Amino acid sequence: MQIKALRGTQDLFSPAIEKWWYIETVARDIFKVHGFKEIRTPLLEESLLFSRAVGETTDLVEKQMYSFTDRGERMLALRPEGTAPVIRAYLEHHFDQHPGTSRLFYIGPMFRAERPQAGRSRQFHQIGGEVIGSYEAHVDAETLSLIVLFFERLGLSGYTLNLNSLGCAADKKAVSLFLKKSLEKDKSALCADCERRFDRNIYRILDCKEKGCRAIVQKLPPILEKLCASCITHFETLKHALSLSKIDFIISPHLVRGLDYYTRTAFEITHPSLGAQDAVGAGGRYDGLVETLGGKPTGSFGFSIGFERLLLALEAQKKEIGQNEPLEVFVATIGEKTLETAFEILNALRKAGISTLLDFEKRSLKAQMRLADHLKAKRVLLIGEDELKEKMVTLREMESGQEEKISQKELVGELSRRIGKEKK
Ligand code: HAM
Repeated sequence: MQIKALRGTQDLFSPAIEKWWYIETVARDIFKVHGFKEIRTPLLEESLLFSRAVGETTDLVEKQMYSFTDRGERMLALRPEGTAPVIRAYLEHHFDQHPGTSRLFYIGPMFRAERPQAGRSRQFHQIGGEVIGSYEAHVDAETLSLIVLFFERLGLSGYTLNLNSLGCAADKKAVSLFLKKSLEKDKSALCADCERRFDRNIYRILDCKEKGCRAIVQKLPPILEKLCASCITHFETLKHALSLSKIDFIISPHLVRGLDYYTRTAFEITHPSLGAQDAVGAGGRYDGLVETLGGKPTGSFGFSIGFERLLLALEAQKKEIGQNEPLEVFVATIGEKTLETAFEILNALRKAGISTLLDFEKRSLKAQMRLADHLKAKRVLLIGEDELKEKMVTLREMESGQEEKISQKELVGELSRRIGKEKK
């Protein structure tokens, strides 16, 4: 039986991969403008990192993590998200001793054992940024503007920034007690999952997609009403900074996140084209995480955008991005004697940065021309025995069908000039 890629994973290749390159290039550029440096952490970590950082009773850790015992009896996990590894690395490499805030970004695969469906896969990719070392609401606003600018550059529109504040650690405890009291009477009407959540992680009930649970949650007062004065001021400062930056948002009074580390600001960006899995990106503030992982108390804010969902949303808008670059030159040989010269020309053109292919399989000229067509080559260089004698090549422009002879000596210069002109 043929071996296939695992369900919920995919192979990426041209012409889709050019879109990925394009998005990555735009992302890197935006991060650079905002003073972020790239960080690449391993795909494998100790499982404990995630249970400690994300929370033992979260779905992510309980149900979705690819964790296993390795040959050395260590409990390892394929990273389900990028924030915990970044903070682990931040502490391990003493970034906390650098002056100012650390602005780190990552682009790469994450793994979650979820039931695959549109917009939900088991290996997916995130573009994420973390600002570590500030409690200031302006950091939340500047990072949200980074996302908005990124979307603007890509031409993504129609998304909604849903915003809420979960409050500080003390507020979270108080809200959790309040939720217990308020939901006690409705406990039997909750779905089986939420009944379990009631005791283990009551916040998660607010996030349940079941109709019955949603109706119950809708009747609860906004979380914001339960927060302390300093958290309210933080949120007001953020809202003001967002309006100064002309960023639209809506307040989602019951928005919570599936990961336990969040404090204060929490957000999700939804796009209507994405159906049930409509969050194209999400994040928030996690002021307690550095301490949880063994560091000093350190205010932090971050986000991740789902690469695949971003692409789906752009495709739904029929955005043409990351055009497949054409092959500039295909070298066709006629007769075995021409191969040596053709090989030299191939090397010289590539050295000049001109994309060039030569077919070494000694096919007929007709077959080589078919191949050039398939590769969408812009021009073909024909080298036969006549050309060899004359030290020339025949250049055929594929679009016009025009042919001309060019001396081999002038070829690289002439082609570089033409391609340069076309690209202007
Ligand atoms: P998250 O909400 O779990 O947050 O994931 C962020 C984004 O990753 C989602 O909004 C979605 O676009 C994408 N995503 C998540 N799961 C899948 C999946 N199974 N298939 C496809 N796309 C998916 C985090 O991961 C946090 N680390 C974000 C963060 C960074 N918070 C602070 N800093």
